[in-house]
Amino acid sequence: MEIREIKLMWKPHKFCRICNGKLTEVFSFGKPMPLANDFKGEDEAREGFVPLEVMWCQDCCLAQTSAVVASERLYANYSYVTSTSTTMREHFKALWDAIKSHGNIESVIEIGSNDGSLLMFAKENGAECVGGIDPAENLAHEAHKKGIQTIIGILDKHTAKGVMCIVPKPDVIIARHVFAHIDNWKEAILDLDTLSNVDTQIVIEVPWVVNMLEQVTFDCIYHEHLSYVSVRSIDRLLEGTPFRIQKVMHFEIHGGSLAIFLRRRDNPVATDASVAEFMAMENITRKTWRDFSFEANKRIAKLRNTAFVPSMRGKKVCGFGASAKSTVWISACGFTKKDMAFICDCTPQKQGKLSPGTDIPIVPESELDKANVAVLWAWNFSDEIKKKHQAWIDAGGVFINPHND
Ligand code: TMP
Ligand code: ZN
Repeated sequence: MEIREIKLMWKPHKFCRICNGKLTEVFSFGKPMPLANDFKGEDEAREGFVPLEVMWCQDCCLAQTSAVVASERLYANYSYVTSTSTTMREHFKALWDAIKSHGNIESVIEIGSNDGSLLMFAKENGAECVGGIDPAENLAHEAHKKGIQTIIGILDKHTAKGVMCIVPKPDVIIARHVFAHIDNWKEAILDLDTLSNVDTQIVIEVPWVVNMLEQVTFDCIYHEHLSYVSVRSIDRLLEGTPFRIQKVMHFEIHGGSLAIFLRRRDNPVATDASVAEFMAMENITRKTWRDFSFEANKRIAKLRNTAFVPSMRGKKVCGFGASAKSTVWISACGFTKKDMAFICDCTPQKQGKLSPGTDIPIVPESELDKANVAVLWAWNFSDEIKKKHQAWIDAGGVFINPHND
């Protein structure tokens, strides 16, 4: 019964989403993994476990996961809320300034607009007409409460038509951390074609696969992230389409991300030197993935062993940050409630829920006082979190960065 349920929920991904090439495995957790953001209450049904391998296209080098989970299962009631942390607001500002350097911004469409945080920022900074598309009904309602109109659904020709009624041919289309979640990239390009005109700037922000490979942040590999993106892969995708890459910028957010600026080919703005510069840094081979896999397994083994060293005896260990990354780490290490009593998180939607696959309770940040050691699953907000909880550190509390400590 359970197996039939899981089969309906995902399909195997066999051929490259750019070039239709054959795929070979380059990384695996060695077991099916829970859906990383499936934070549910005790009385709610959980989604179960799905295989999770990274496959590599020998032809165009795009890395992509072996399974595609149905988007309604991943996003209908989504717990990932765009952070309104200081780090994120600073990032919005930097991204906004970069976009504005190309011209005035009066209208914005955001794809994957989440709870409307970025569109709200856009309104506060002079955009008059904004609208979003997002599949998470719960978050779209949050956005509506803020006055941000949101079409509920994934990007497709229907939602594209819907958002066009709110914001026709906008100055900017932003897709932050959503492009890697899209299965059918070719259709997405057609939708961008429908939504844009010759003057529209399209900004795609994605985690840069080069950073993930260098920093061995394997905890960014989960079912939502269908592709691990390079500038070269987007360039290849755009061959024969109305778009080209005009500029590339790097940001520290989410462990290292790229903002890839697209323009229509008939737009006169010159292609920036950054495009070729980033491509020149992307010499990824199968060996790069082999080394990544080796180091990832080393880190998983190290953290698993840390939990059992004598100095940890008698200590109460919690996690900090119920991020999707926490689900990956906890499952990869095989931790249970016995190893980690609870996970602190500031997101109200996550508090009172349980971690996917392991049922560890998520509690408010104030509960940190009940632990002696906290594994910092939200290592990407390390400075901000440590600063906020300096008093706990001064009283003897220890944060462990799962990647470095
Ligand atoms: P993310 O890396 O996927 O954005 O997840 C970070 C998680 O950490 C998110 O669930 C919010 C949480 N968090 C806190 O609990 N306290 C904080 O101060 C910050 C910055 C994040
Ligand atoms: Zn390919």
